[in-house]
Amino acid sequence: MEVTPEVRSQMSEIIDRYPNSRSALMPLLHLAQSIDDEVTPEAMEVIADALGLTTAEVAAVATFYTMYKRKPVGRHHIGVCTNTLCALLGGDAVYDAVSERLGAGHDQTDVDGTFWLERIECQAACTHAPVMTVDWEFMDNQTPASAVDIIDRLARGEQVQSTRGPVIRDFQATEHTLAFPVDGLAGEGGEADDIMLAGLTYAREHGMSAPAAPGGDA
Ligand code: FES
Repeated sequence: MEVTPEVRSQMSEIIDRYPNSRSALMPLLHLAQSIDDEVTPEAMEVIADALGLTTAEVAAVATFYTMYKRKPVGRHHIGVCTNTLCALLGGDAVYDAVSERLGAGHDQTDVDGTFWLERIECQAACTHAPVMTVDWEFMDNQTPASAVDIIDRLARGEQVQSTRGPVIRDFQATEHTLAFPVDGLAGEGGEADDIMLAGLTYAREHGMSAPAAPGGDA
């Protein structure tokens, strides 16, 4: 990770958010991925130095959480959920089709290093299973054919809209958002639909509410 004056400034801005500087570790790792599309050993040293940690402490976090990669991700991260509900509704078939299209397996890139494929855990998006993510933006209700079509369109450089988020940018742009969450894109994408709100609607219709939190409002 090349530590330009701009990068140094961004690191300071992140560190200054927290009363304890080591709390900045995870967003700094996302910042590193926004610069290099991976967390390099050099980035771990820079971050350790900035936070007064050992490189072993930084590496312990960077190797524990699967969102941090130690090989180049490429332009787009493709996640396919194969947890229970997505699997029941065809997630494994979606994964197999995308894997065949890319010629890549779990945590591998395609041959030219443009797409990274990963089996991902439940994204709390089960109402619209099977779910695929592109650079962590949702692509709901996928089929093998629709998932491969998304890959094809991205490969041709076409604009692809998340089903409930912004137009797809790329992995490094998403990583920058994870380091600096206020990116002006929160209002893009559709509103919550009837299926997403079914539980809340049912609760309201039946006069149900959550118990009050101890010492605060419900
Ligand atoms: S099981 Fe796939 S989003 Fe929940």
